[in-house]
Amino acid sequence: MNYRHAFHVGNHADVLKHLALVLCLAALKRKPAPFAVLDTHAGRGIYDLHSSEAERSPEWRDGVGKIWDWPAPPAPVARYLEAIGGFNSEGPLRTYPGSPALVTAALREEDVLIACELHPEEHAALKRALPRTGRVQVHQRDGFGALTALLPPAQRRGLVLIDPPYEASDELAQSVAALAPALKRFGHGTYLWWRPLKSGPALNAADAELRALGVRDALRADLWIDAPAPEGRLNGSSILVINPPFGLEASLREALPFLAEALSKGRHGWRLTLQ
Ligand SMILES: C[S@@+](CC[C@H](N)C(=O)[O-])C[C@H]1O[C@@H](n2cnc3c(N)ncnc32)[C@H](O)[C@@H]1O
Repeated sequence: MNYRHAFHVGNHADVLKHLALVLCLAALKRKPAPFAVLDTHAGRGIYDLHSSEAERSPEWRDGVGKIWDWPAPPAPVARYLEAIGGFNSEGPLRTYPGSPALVTAALREEDVLIACELHPEEHAALKRALPRTGRVQVHQRDGFGALTALLPPAQRRGLVLIDPPYEASDELAQSVAALAPALKRFGHGTYLWWRPLKSGPALNAADAELRALGVRDALRADLWIDAPAPEGRLNGSSILVINPPFGLEASLREALPFLAEALSKGRHGWRLTLQ
């Protein structure tokens, strides 16, 4: 486990994933019934954009840094920036909230976050970053295993974020294998699964496997800022949202063309498909 999110934080992939996360959380809050969020690969929670890791690889400058001060972004992007802004009340962008921090900020009194992080140092940092309250549970455990062990949540409604580091070549297959029992246990939950956009055929095959498992309602959003580079730099990413909330498709349709243009480093583009 060599992956450290601090080297990639705030890049175009985080922008896409966290934009969708913020929109899904807002949708869950439209109903008063409490919800749970399971974050299977949570990371360290809060990132200092001037830390040595972020300075050594300042991907955020080509990601959130490019849109942070945008005069009038589309409404869904403004909503995402507002969530990031909640951690930067001094003004300049200095702190980037990872997924568990964004979720924690959105929780109401009865809502719950269950965050899993396997790496000992990242787990310890995550525990320090999040508030000590019964609404926030932090586990040092395998996130794929948690998809079986911790679902369905007691609240019976909510969101599952699956965001592995893809260090191992089989993490797409591992995700599908872990999703299968999760969907049986918590079939009506919303799942937000992030994937690197390196091999289109591999992603298409993973999505086809999910359809074969009975997934009928899913929305896929791809965003790339340059031509795919199968090795090396990540130029694009993809999210698959199973059981997407009402309104997410329209919001992504508004946000994606803007993000592709604003974050472009060359041959940029986007795609939104109902699976
Ligand atoms: C892409 S990062 C997560 C970023 C985070 N979700 C966010 O959006 O801010 C992936 C994280 O998964 C952790 N990790 C790796 N293998 C894991 C596993 N099997 N179970 C749980 N966490 C794992 C890594 O240490 C890393 O912190």
